[in-house]
Amino acid sequence: MADPDLAAEVHHSGGSYPVVAGWGIIDGLGQRLADLGVKGPAYIITDENVMNPYGRNVQRAMQKEGIAAHCFVIPSGEFSKSFELAQAIFHWLVERRAERSQAIIAVGGGVVGDLAGFVAATFLRGVPFIQVPTSMAAMVDASIGGKVAVNLPEAKNMVGAFYQPLGVFADVQSLATLRKRELAEGWAEAIKHGFILDANLVDVFEEHAEALMEVQPDISTEVIRRSMAIKADVVSQDERETLGIRILLNYGHTIGHGLESSTDYGRFLHGEGVSVGMMGAAYIAREMGMISDDLVDRQRSLLERFNLPIHATGVSPEGVLDAMAMDKKTVGGTNRFVLLEEAGKAVVRSDVPRDLVEATVRDLTK
Ligand SMILES: NC(=O)c1ccc[n+]([C@@H]2O[C@H](COP(=O)([O-])OP(=O)(O)OC[C@H]3O[C@@H](n4cnc5c(N)ncnc54)[C@H](O)[C@@H]3O)[C@@H](O)[C@H]2O)c1
Repeated sequence: MADPDLAAEVHHSGGSYPVVAGWGIIDGLGQRLADLGVKGPAYIITDENVMNPYGRNVQRAMQKEGIAAHCFVIPSGEFSKSFELAQAIFHWLVERRAERSQAIIAVGGGVVGDLAGFVAATFLRGVPFIQVPTSMAAMVDASIGGKVAVNLPEAKNMVGAFYQPLGVFADVQSLATLRKRELAEGWAEAIKHGFILDANLVDVFEEHAEALMEVQPDISTEVIRRSMAIKADVVSQDERETLGIRILLNYGHTIGHGLESSTDYGRFLHGEGVSVGMMGAAYIAREMGMISDDLVDRQRSLLERFNLPIHATGVSPEGVLDAMAMDKKTVGGTNRFVLLEEAGKAVVRSDVPRDLVEATVRDLTK
């Protein structure tokens, strides 16, 4: 029978995997993992905020199906996405005599998912990997598509792999304990999915903004499933970001990354940078005659209803422009911009005039 919680299937060169979202699904996770062939012992990686109750609940759900699971708890925060911590996990796995057939299960936000995925991709040249995302950003974005990485002191996500999980299982109920600021920045990515690829999803956001910020079960689950399906579809078409499709997901990211990086990742959460960056991209598209004032206003008021920033007052524009010039997605010294042609339709442009980019960044930071 079809799984009623199935949001999408991701197809990739090595096969496919289910992306599932439902309210309270951690309870039945043991059965789902058994169905995927996971046998004990398995290794849960989680963080200190998520361990209780979610890491523990995943462990119990697995034990109900006779699958033993050990837990490794990392400190929460971006600095945990490091070689040092990956190495500590490798040692722990060796001590536990982990074998190549035994699974690693990431229970947490994008930090846990990226780090645990990096470990899964490299330990014994690759062990089965499961994602149980618990933050909004991880549910609608980080857990889908197989990008795993650790940071170097020089830059984020510098060492990693494309390593696809066996499945993604999001328990939407876990969002009830996520801080509102983190909730909103995760919604920024989902709103972005609507603007680039699904105009009807933008309508749904407009209709239900307040209910979504309160994580009302039915509507939140439905919107998360739709957003997951968009990401799943994009990464299925362009697994390794080589075909110019996956890059559409970078809407708002060119300026957004510049803002995050020039403020040393201290002022903006990722989704907040993306929110300001989406406004920058919208202004650029308007100046280039691609979209109307109405669409710019529509995007601005929707982001505001999710308490997301729409400008970056006080940030040094030179700092942002310098950081944008260093962006690893720069090609031949030119920033590529994802711009809207209409709600639900985005294109990549490499011909945005340099002075328009500068003027836009100056406007956003005024
Ligand atoms: N692999 C990808 O494709 C991809 C895509 C986007 C982002 N990322 C990465 O994801 C990371 C950001 O992810 P994130 O925003 O989830 O950050 P995060 O993992 O740091 O989680 C944010 C905070 O929320 C806490 N938390 C998570 N779930 C919770 C819950 N249910 N209740 C209470 N607290 C909870 C965490 O402990 C943490 O303090 C970055 O490292 C980024 O590079 C990866």
